[in-house]
Amino acid sequence: MTPTTREDCVALDAADPLAAFREEFVLPEGVIYLDGNSLGALPRSTPGRVADMIEREWGRDLIRSWNDAGWWDKPRTLGAKVAPLVGAAADEVVVGDGTSANLFKVLVAALRMSDRSVVLGEAGNFPTDLYVAEGAVALAGAVQRRVDPDGPGLEAALAGGDVAVLLLSHVDYRSGTLRDMPGITRLAHENGALVVWDLCHSVGAVPVDLSGSGADFAVGCTYKYLNAGPGAPAFLYAARRHHAVAEQPVSGWHGHARPFDFSGDYEPAPGVSRFLSGSQPLVADAALEASLDVWAEADLAQVRAKSLAMTDLFLSRAAQAGISSITPSEHARRGSQVALVEPEEGAGYAIVQALIARGVIGDFRAPDVMRFGFTPLYLRHVDVWDAATALVEVVGTGEWRQERFARRGQVT
Ligand SMILES: Cc1ncc(COP(=O)(O)O)c(C=O)c1O
Repeated sequence: MTPTTREDCVALDAADPLAAFREEFVLPEGVIYLDGNSLGALPRSTPGRVADMIEREWGRDLIRSWNDAGWWDKPRTLGAKVAPLVGAAADEVVVGDGTSANLFKVLVAALRMSDRSVVLGEAGNFPTDLYVAEGAVALAGAVQRRVDPDGPGLEAALAGGDVAVLLLSHVDYRSGTLRDMPGITRLAHENGALVVWDLCHSVGAVPVDLSGSGADFAVGCTYKYLNAGPGAPAFLYAARRHHAVAEQPVSGWHGHARPFDFSGDYEPAPGVSRFLSGSQPLVADAALEASLDVWAEADLAQVRAKSLAMTDLFLSRAAQAGISSITPSEHARRGSQVALVEPEEGAGYAIVQALIARGVIGDFRAPDVMRFGFTPLYLRHVDVWDAATALVEVVGTGEWRQERFARRGQVT
């Protein structure tokens, strides 16, 4: 049952099976951090792990670390640690490059596997997905079409028989809507299309079952719910059944079958390693490893249950204050964020700034959405209650109307 008092929240926190995880993160005094869906908090173990990588692996052991510290295999060993978080086998995931770059690789690979020439994207997807798809179709002589995956048009768009690849975000970055991965993947396959899932807003936020859903390819970032740090390397999933035939366009030496033959001809590695290209940011990999080791201890079912309890609470307090939301009320369609609609035109950015001045950090997405991310590993129910109280006060008293809250930074 959704708590109705602050005391209820204190009691929920006392019984929270995930409570101990909060100690594993550095959380500044006086801050309620509701932006872990954009940049996750710093795990306590990360600075030590990164310092060790720099001082010992690089500083002392120098180039020997490519073998001795497992640097060469980091894309695979880290991929194996991401795999259980996305319902994949260890040999179906590699870590490296960024989400945009990985998306380009899998989209071109998928287009090359099909004799059709349409990438079906989603109208409101995160812009990089739309832009990368534009680049991929231009290279492959294909075209991009867009559909609203939450509306009735998806089935008809797939039924046309010309869609090579369906590219969707599992959780929408703006509204927090969670898509039915097994159902949509099945529908796409029935219509002869491959599916690429963008997991940026679902990995570490909701349980993901790529294998069980029959997904073909997926990409995702690690700096949001996985807490690997700003600009941390991304991951790429390719279903094992595609490994032998998928040909990605950035065919670099790390994806070669025998890189140390230094042959003049490219021959892709037999497994998911063929999606690698060049040398990886190993210092950033160390931070990612520290964050994945925290996740290895977490029970995803408990994470999901707490996430839903927290978003229920925030949604209900916002509704009581008359603030509407574009985040679905049904649990089955909700990720781990709440997107509220600004109560009057132009207010959203200033409300978020006024909350930040009070130590409640969310963000704003143009034109009118205030986003609040809920990260069960380091947030308490009482934080959700206090953040909602701050929101109700900022809106109710008009505190946000102060001129200083209207000044825009480069990043919103
Ligand atoms: C759905 C989605 N895809 C991709 C990205 C970012 O891509 P990159 O990591 O290449 O900057 C984001 C960032 O917020 C995102 O929300």
